[in-house]
Amino acid sequence: MRRLKLTIFRYDPADAESKPHYQEYLIDETPRMSIYNALDYIQSNIDPSIYFDTVCRSNVCGSCAININGQPKLACRTQTSTLPAKILLEPLTYFPLIKDLCTDKAHYFFNLIRRIEGWSQMQEEFNPEQEHLVSEEEILPVYEADRCIECGICLEACGAAKFDHEYLGAAGINRVWRFAADPRDSRGVKGMLEHLATEQGVFGCEAMLGCRDFCPKDIELPKVIGKLRAKVVRQVIINSLKDLIHVKR
Ligand code: SF4
Ligand code: FES
Repeated sequence: MRRLKLTIFRYDPADAESKPHYQEYLIDETPRMSIYNALDYIQSNIDPSIYFDTVCRSNVCGSCAININGQPKLACRTQTSTLPAKILLEPLTYFPLIKDLCTDKAHYFFNLIRRIEGWSQMQEEFNPEQEHLVSEEEILPVYEADRCIECGICLEACGAAKFDHEYLGAAGINRVWRFAADPRDSRGVKGMLEHLATEQGVFGCEAMLGCRDFCPKDIELPKVIGKLRAKVVRQVIINSLKDLIHVKR
């Protein structure tokens, strides 16, 4: 059995007396211990003042994302057996700090939904008597995009997203794609161009591939961005040609 040394970032921005610092905790590793289990043990048995986020404890809610030895990961999914005995735990830096390991991801995802109008929009009147059937092939990209658990890890792992907080990032572009790909939504890529065809959209990606390396749901984010880039370029060319024809007439 190993003795683990966890070094944890501590800071409460709401407390004028608080200063950012690291605190060390020694615990015995147990079989199949996750970082969440280790934090829970520390909070229950050593230091109840420590703050960290958790809801589902099973890789579903995305709330427990933190930096573990410098890499963004889910605390509930990361086994201590995969790490050295010295473990450094820090909050995500992309999001505002609430306290210790807790960060505010809610505002980013709430603003994202508002920014892209992330709800189904249809041109025809909704008819509750008539089911809107779609084929499996049509709905698969929507299911795939909907696997995102909004953990924010792809934003934390992305230099371009950290450099420009207006850049939608992989999570944001994936969310736009979720509606653009939905055959029940009348916007499609054409109707989403204002979000996509900019430096804050698909052209903001600098292919550093952090999203691919760290997304805990293995969503193929670089593929989504690449596919959307091709569709956006095609749509921009079509729009330009239409404008040209219109001007000549
Ligand atoms: Fe997390 Fe992956 Fe969703 Fe990004 S795309 S927020 S890494 S689940
Ligand atoms: Fe829900 Fe880790 S606690 S994903």
